[in-house]
Amino acid sequence: PLDRALLRRLRFSAATAAFQIEGARDEDGPGRSIWDDFVETPGRVRDGSTADPGPDSYHRADEDVALLARLGVDEYRFSMSWVRVLPDGRPSPQGLAYYDRLVDRLLDAGITPTPTLYHWDLPSRLEEAGGWLNRSTAERFAQYTEVVADALGDRVRQWYTINEPVSTTLQGYAIGELAPGRALLFDALPTVHHQLLAHGYAARILHARGATSVGIVNNHTQVLPASDSEADQQAAYLYDLIHNRMYADPVLLGRYPDLEPLGVALPVRDGDLALISAPCELYGVNYYNPTTVAASAGPVPFEVVPTPGAPVTGFGPLWPIVPEALTAFLIDARERYGAALPPVVIAENGASFPEPDHVDAPIDDTARISYLHGHIAAVLAAMRAGVRIDAYTVWSLLDNFEWADGYTQRFGLVHVDMATGERTPKASYAWYRALIEEARS
Ligand code: FCB
Repeated sequence: PLDRALLRRLRFSAATAAFQIEGARDEDGPGRSIWDDFVETPGRVRDGSTADPGPDSYHRADEDVALLARLGVDEYRFSMSWVRVLPDGRPSPQGLAYYDRLVDRLLDAGITPTPTLYHWDLPSRLEEAGGWLNRSTAERFAQYTEVVADALGDRVRQWYTINEPVSTTLQGYAIGELAPGRALLFDALPTVHHQLLAHGYAARILHARGATSVGIVNNHTQVLPASDSEADQQAAYLYDLIHNRMYADPVLLGRYPDLEPLGVALPVRDGDLALISAPCELYGVNYYNPTTVAASAGPVPFEVVPTPGAPVTGFGPLWPIVPEALTAFLIDARERYGAALPPVVIAENGASFPEPDHVDAPIDDTARISYLHGHIAAVLAAMRAGVRIDAYTVWSLLDNFEWADGYTQRFGLVHVDMATGERTPKASYAWYRALIEEARS
């Protein structure tokens, strides 16, 4: 059983992202994003799917809100599509209308809207000019933020700026598994700084317009050396730099860690770090698994390897299930950043397991329930150890388009039949609902 006194201190939420749930990629004149380009490039997405219609939330937002209301969440984390809002650099009334209405529906249902401004769907026209390698993309992001804040800032007070810059840098620009699919290895690293700069601009704009709660969302992982050999320990140290510290240190401490061991320098200008580290009210942590790292002689000096003895999710050996690693990460973060760490929001946590495309009855997803239960217990353990954590968010409300894995990985509390859009809550939905109800009782 979970400690009810601690559960009561958390706000509960569920998350989605625009490109993963909306579909309607051509409706009402959106611009093109790097994900439109990526899904149309043969061989990029595992099952050849294009995210359209997917869960079709562009047409089914009311159903989504009804599901959230029945679930009893305090908040809904969704993302806004930059190319719907600014298809060609100018604001689109239709694109904004979709989010405007969603925000109103959520508020009517008593759910706090907590949008993410950027969840990976960069306008293609900006990618053509270098994308996140180009500093001016951060300035364009500031303009986009102004438009969104002007449209929704009267009703939305809590915002997430950029989702998981590490995934964009490592998988999008360094390795090319995600859009924009570039394989620049260490030459991708300027994208770190430009995304953090975009966060800094956005936070400044949102605060100036009355936002009360703003933060970046980083993906974090507890890094474990594969052995206690010096080489593996050094590899783990480097991986921790490149996955965790390179994103958290500048935001929380106003400086990058020493990147000398990686042999790279970032394009930092005077004033950038002050902007990036301006105080925020929350720090978003997406957490899925720990990462076991071994030394490698390959083009990069480390290699991610399976975590011995851990059960795994539908993603296989590199997505081990180790809830205690979340507690350890949070306690370490508290030690590393001290008072510079604002209240943590767990902005994503969840798991995929093999599930059928079509169902006639609710799926009995006990593996997901046990994953979520274990990780919420891990969050409570960190709270007990003195880490301030304000909210917990399940990824995801709905089964959706899992990026390069298409529809092969289902993360939802609610099953979605991608052929019909039909939504069928799983056992985990009922379980989460009961947990929230208990926390409120
Ligand atoms: C995270 C992403 C999210 C989803 C989950 C499974 O890295 O932020 O969109 O794909 O992984």
